[in-house]
Amino acid sequence: MYIVGGTASKKVAEELSKELDTKIAKTISKRFPDDEFYVRILDDISGEHVIIVQTTYPDNNTVELFLLQNAVEEAGAKEISVVIPYFGYARQDSKFQSGEPISAKALANLISLSADKVITVDPHKQHILDFFSTSAFSCSAVPELAKYLKDKEINMILAPDKGALERAKHASEIIGCDFDYMEKTRIDDSTIEIKPKKLDANNKNVAIIDDIISTGGTMAKSIHQLKKHGAKNVYVACTHGLFAGDAVKKLVSSGCNEIISTDTIHSDFSKVSISPCISPFFK
Ligand code: R5P
Repeated sequence: MYIVGGTASKKVAEELSKELDTKIAKTISKRFPDDEFYVRILDDISGEHVIIVQTTYPDNNTVELFLLQNAVEEAGAKEISVVIPYFGYARQDSKFQSGEPISAKALANLISLSADKVITVDPHKQHILDFFSTSAFSCSAVPELAKYLKDKEINMILAPDKGALERAKHASEIIGCDFDYMEKTRIDDSTIEIKPKKLDANNKNVAIIDDIISTGGTMAKSIHQLKKHGAKNVYVACTHGLFAGDAVKKLVSSGCNEIISTDTIHSDFSKVSISPCISPFFK
């Protein structure tokens, strides 16, 4: 068995290789003067089970994944597994208006062409797995995030919307604390409204858990509500830290104590490794 780590997910590939005690295939990669990507696998992977690890965000990393899949197939791998730590475009999982693509399906169709198995982490909605025409599975980073938060003496886990409720409940069970949720309405891509609600947060350490932090608007508004209700310390944790635009500034100025994300997308806040969630699929 070999692991091939794409440039977006080298760290995850390394962690996974330690967990599985598996070699990482040597590769060379570069960009041509016109910015097109080039990759070459140097090890002989013919007849091997190869696990490719690559997040499909931003767009150029998706092209890189297609090239890696083709390189592995052309090199004669016996079996190809594709680990997608963060599956970009998963939020466009249906035609919300006529004339739109189902972006998650478009990507899944192409990835399925050269994959025997696909594994992704905390997809925004589970049904995107059905878009793959090959076996597709997901795993959750919540247990690893909860383990990290356990040291913070958390009294309550908050879901910023009903969609995140199951995650919050799961984390609260691991930590052994209460959970609650907020009611969010999305106005547009960067504006949301959170319904005021009575929260039992006075003098408590609260962690807000979501699948994605993008503009930071959802978290900033939730922090604001918690502070209004007297929360002592507020932690924000997510699986996929996109941190678009001034998201980090927004979170810091809202008064959160710490920003925590996993390494599905590498950032300064990638404090939790997702490899323990992925490795069981290969043991
Ligand atoms: C949406 O339902 C997701 O679970 C996240 O809450 C959302 O993507 C966060 O976006 P933002 O950081 O832009 O508020």
